[in-house]
Amino acid sequence: MKILFLCSGGDAPGMNRFIWELYSKFKKDLYFAYAGFDGLINGKIFPLSSVIDKSLKDEAGTVTKTSRCPEFKQAKYFKMGLEYAKQFDAVVVFGGNGSQKGAKQLFENGVNTIFVAGTIDNDVLDCEYSIGFSTAVKEGVYAIDNSMPSNDAMNLACIYEVMGRESDKIALKVAETVCADYCISDKKTLNLEKLKKIIETNYENQLSSCIVLRENLTDAKELTEKLNEAIGKKVVRFHIVGRTQRGGKPTQEELIMATKYAKKTAECIKTKNFGVRILANSDLNVETKPFI
Ligand code: F6P
Repeated sequence: MKILFLCSGGDAPGMNRFIWELYSKFKKDLYFAYAGFDGLINGKIFPLSSVIDKSLKDEAGTVTKTSRCPEFKQAKYFKMGLEYAKQFDAVVVFGGNGSQKGAKQLFENGVNTIFVAGTIDNDVLDCEYSIGFSTAVKEGVYAIDNSMPSNDAMNLACIYEVMGRESDKIALKVAETVCADYCISDKKTLNLEKLKKIIETNYENQLSSCIVLRENLTDAKELTEKLNEAIGKKVVRFHIVGRTQRGGKPTQEELIMATKYAKKTAECIKTKNFGVRILANSDLNVETKPFI
């Protein structure tokens, strides 16, 4: 049996554990497309054994590399990728929503495809927990925990911008965990007057303010400047948490979930259950659902 694995889109902590677990089950039968759909289009396909490294199984990143590949949406490039994908008995696509579309298209064109939900944003449809989320939250919390004492010392406010693309899940979870004073999770909650009031009141009471901001809603620097101007004092700062959320050491929960995902993927391959998405439900059990 020949199995092809590829990661697509943004990397997610836990990918390496998933890859290690899958490798442990299929060893020489497992191949990978270098940097995802891009490698598939260009025939950059190699045995997984050439990159597998047990010492990286608990680290973030991915030994197979990943990339964003908008070309895969174009018929010409999709066809090129399809030709390579057809040479395999099973193709496992690991990624977020965009990657899911590519996986579905492969399946609809006759490839035995399995999609695995892996993105820090935790925004895959029907999925309560995608690989990467727990670590992304942990890193957001870490950044706040390690800088708020300094803001406390000066009664300052800090706006922490966390990743999440268009999803509010990381921002809300981080805000809840650190007991933030306010979370800007969507356009509705982007309220300058409200923020000004919270920050001013805390400042008058000799307290700091912790504000969590979901990325892609507004420019954190501009928002900070606007608030400082409205308050009439430089009491607001900002901090972009950013990429440390993707590169952070995977949490225990992440490693456990990645292992569960890998077990379910192996089961699907062995039972020839293709055309499925592998997702976690609210009990954190990993199950399969058909492509939609
Ligand atoms: O989808 C994961 C993610 O980290 C998002 O949270 C973020 O908006 C995006 O990827 C960043 O993408 P890139 O790494 O391509 O800049």
